[in-house]
Amino acid sequence: MPDSQKPPLTGKTPRESESTLSESMMPDQLNHHGNVFGGEILALVDKTGGVVARRHARLPVVTVSMDRVEFREPVYATDYVEAHGRIVHVGRTSMEIMVTVEAEQLETGKRRQTNRCFLTYVALDRHNGRPAPVPPLILETDEDRRLHAAAERRRARRLAEAEDEKELEP
Ligand SMILES: CC(C)(COP(=O)(O)OP(=O)(O)OC[C@H]1O[C@@H](n2cnc3c(N)ncnc32)[C@H](O)[C@@H]1OP(=O)(O)O)[C@@H](O)C(=O)NCCC(=O)NCCS
Repeated sequence: MPDSQKPPLTGKTPRESESTLSESMMPDQLNHHGNVFGGEILALVDKTGGVVARRHARLPVVTVSMDRVEFREPVYATDYVEAHGRIVHVGRTSMEIMVTVEAEQLETGKRRQTNRCFLTYVALDRHNGRPAPVPPLILETDEDRRLHAAAERRRARRLAEAEDEKELEP
């Protein structure tokens, strides 16, 4: 039976899909300044968000957008990098995941938050590859509700921007 025709799904909390991926950077991941190349960090961020989305949906997912990519601080060659993902919003077939990245200096244990991104994934039906429904999100804590409200505002802004961009098309 196509995933899109299955009975209504039961809700899940953000705790059920939270995930952390970490990596010790290697010399081929550095930029010309000897710090970690931004694209390497983005790959780790996308992998982390993808694990969270797949844990929530238990379906294949694709990345549709990556918002607010800000590198607040450099990641140094000797840092150990940890990305933590948490689901903050679900639509019918889409999920927004907040990923925060921390760099740890292993010699001292000093940790810095280097960036935070919001990524949207869409779950796909295993049979026809079309967008498929995902479980509702159960908001348990005040922080869940605060992050969800902020995500609602981002979603509204994103939809308005998509409308504006349509006007640019020939
Ligand atoms: C994701 C994809 C299947 C959506 O297809 P579509 O025909 O636009 O599907 P829909 O219009 O039904 O939208 C599906 C969901 O995606 C959301 N969506 C679509 N474009 C979006 C965007 N740019 N930003 C955020 N969400 C978006 C819609 O809001 C909808 O969410 P909802 O069901 O929770 O309301 C299609 O755009 C795609 O295949 N993109 C390529 C993804 C990919 O290959 N990623 C890897 C890049 S390397």
